Formats: sequence, structure tokens, C-alpha cells
Amino acid sequence: MTIAHPGRTASDGGPAAPGARGEPEALRELTDGLAEFLMVYKFGLDEISTKLTILREELSHRGTGSPIEHVSPRLKTPASITAKARRIGCPLVFDDLRSRIRDIAGIRVVCGFISDVYTVADMLTRQPDVRLLQVKDYVAAPKPNGYRSLHLIVEIPVFLSDRVAAVPVEVQLRTVAMDFWASLEHKLSYKYDDDIPARLHDELTAAAEDAMRLDQRMELLQQEIRGTAPTTAGPAAAVRPDGW
Ligand code: GTP
Ligand code: MG
Repeated sequence: MTIAHPGRTASDGGPAAPGARGEPEALRELTDGLAEFLMVYKFGLDEISTKLTILREELSHRGTGSPIEHVSPRLKTPASITAKARRIGCPLVFDDLRSRIRDIAGIRVVCGFISDVYTVADMLTRQPDVRLLQVKDYVAAPKPNGYRSLHLIVEIPVFLSDRVAAVPVEVQLRTVAMDFWASLEHKLSYKYDDDIPARLHDELTAAAEDAMRLDQRMELLQQEIRGTAPTTAGPAAAVRPDGW
């Protein structure tokens, strides 16, 4: 004789603990929601990456070399989104994250010369489907530690199956020298949080000034060469800018 246990069936092997039944479901909903939330930013990043690739390839066919050296897109990780939300006091709710964190999709564009930074920014933001939301010009006005780059927040439409999403993308444009400084500064100072020793801070700022002088020098050389040297006409694109 079998005694029926209330809540137990032969197939589920026992009663569900309170709340346990809903948990995997809630977790799945959260994971799916997060994947869908991030997917749209990935598409936005793809759109901007394609635009930059087109500019880069088209300009290198003109014979004067491309102003873009390299491009690196990145999506913020869920951990980094959560950390930023906490830092700025943003509730962990998709709508709030969407409206308050505008650098979930980010792309870094490294250019040869200072003038290239502005040329590329202008070419990108002049495109009719790109909406410029914000400009932070740390090239014209460097941060106190010497950090220089041109930061844009642009918005790009992403055409989904049933709607058009306007996706913000942070575009950081900088020269090779600015990139060199920023990468090493990040490596050297990240472990201090915001509490960097004064001597290290001063050394880094001085190094940023050296990088700026190098940029200015190369800019002048470029102007001199462009102003006097004959420009190569025709399909000079077969020659890589680094001669390889
Ligand atoms: P975040 O919340 O960090 O995005 O800062 P923010 O919203 O005030 O924007 P800001 O334009 O100041 O900086 C955005 C990004 O620029 C950072 O995430 C870094 O990638 C870069 N950045 C800004 N300042 C520095 C700096 O001092 N050193 C380095 N290496 N990178 C910097
Ligand atoms: Mg950021």
C-alpha cells in the first residue's frame, strides 16, 4: 500500500521548497533580459564600427593615407555596468540603466595626427543617421592629470524586427601618443584608486605634456610635408602607411 504524500508526486520526487519553483524561472528571465538589453548595444557598436571601417578604407584609397590607425570596440560587462550604476546612484533597472549610462557601447579610434582626430569626428557626426549627444574635448582642455582625448556620445538607430532602437555609443578619439599615455597611465595608476601619490601624479602629468609636444611636432611636420610635397594621385593604396 502506498501512502500519498501531500504535494509529492511520483514524477517530481518531492514537494518543492517554498520559492524554489520560481527561482530558476526568475533567473532565466533576468539572464534573457540582460542578453537582450546588451544585444542592442552590440548592434549599435557594429553600426559605428562599420562606419569607421568604411571611412578608413575609403580614405586610404585616396592616396594620402587613412587618418585612422586602429579602432577598438568594447561592450561594458554586466559587472562594470553594475559598478557604474552603484557609483552614480542609478537603480539596477533596465530603463534607468539605459537612460543614465551612455557608455555601455564604446569605441576607441586611434588616429595619426591631432588634426585627424577632429577630421574623423567631423566625418562621423556629419552623417545624417548619427546624432551627436555630447562632446567632451579633453584635447583642447586636458584633464588635470594630463589625459587628452576627444569624447563623443553619439546616437545611432538600430533597425530591429519590430522597432527602431536609438542606441548611444561613446566614441573616444585620440592620437597614438595620447593612446600610449592613457594605456600606461591606466596600468600604472589603477591600483591606487583615486589616491595616487603626488610624485607619480606629477610624473604622469609631465609625461602627458611630453606626449602633447610630440603630437604638436608631428602635426607641424605633417603640415610642412603636405604643404610642400607633391601628393600621390591614383591608387597609391597598395602601399601600406607603414611601408609593409
Ligand atoms: P566614466 O564614468 O569613467 O565613464 O567617466 P565620465 O562619465 O565622467 O566620462 P569621462 O569622459 O571623464 O571618461 C570616460 C572614459 O575616458 C573613461 O572610462 C576612460 O576610458 C577614459 N578616461 C577618462 N579619464 C581618464 C584618465 O585620466 N586616464 C585614462 N587612462 N583614461 C581616462
Ligand atoms: Mg566610461
